Amino acid sequence: MPADAQPELRQQLVAVARRMNSSGINQGTSGNLSARIPGGLLITPTSLPYEQMEPEDLVAIDFGGNPMDNPTGHPKGHHSSPRRPSSEWQLHAEILRSRPEIEAVLHCHSIHATALACHGRPIPSFHYMVAMAGTATIPCAPYSTFGTKALSLDAVRALEGKLACLLAQHGQVALGRNLDQALRLAIEVETLAHMYLQALTLGEPPLLDAAEMERVIALMGSMHYGQAADRPGQS
Ligand code: 13P
Repeated sequence: MPADAQPELRQQLVAVARRMNSSGINQGTSGNLSARIPGGLLITPTSLPYEQMEPEDLVAIDFGGNPMDNPTGHPKGHHSSPRRPSSEWQLHAEILRSRPEIEAVLHCHSIHATALACHGRPIPSFHYMVAMAGTATIPCAPYSTFGTKALSLDAVRALEGKLACLLAQHGQVALGRNLDQALRLAIEVETLAHMYLQALTLGEPPLLDAAEMERVIALMGSMHYGQAADRPGQS
């Protein structure tokens, strides 16, 4: 697929990648972002500072990591990105391959979520907004070396039926039906992690029970809660 097949998506991806850092949920060249395209994904390149990133730096790959606009690996013409895909391409590809309802994947190293993940701790139902991740508990996937298949498979497992998870000694992953949703959820996860760490200073806070979390998840679903920006005229 030629790189110029998704000019708008490329612009959005760069804009959201930059907002990842300007919103404070990521720093430096950490983190990565992808969006589904027919037959694969468009992903941020590895180790390129977001402020230097341009739409043509994004890399189109299939779910096996093969360049889509440049299958031989040899640059041919101005449509091929000379960049290598994010080292976490397998994380993004496995999630998008196994979750057809998901369109965007965001991975970042937000401070408070990562602090919890460094202890291997999930975010439990201490606050009703945990339900934004479609679950009563935002789990923490076990540690594996960055960029590995093992990490991607553990993340897919942790994310089953959910929209976010933490990655032990690493960071967090947030999913969305578009790039903005994934970013909003990642910010929410970071906010919840911050609140939870604050609450923990007075001891382990009481948790909302499973029935209440199910009620909140159903309510949020019926209201399309948090999606007003995607659904003009609706809450
Ligand atoms: P990339 O620059 O390769 O995307 O890696 C950043 C990162 O966060 C790895 O987990």
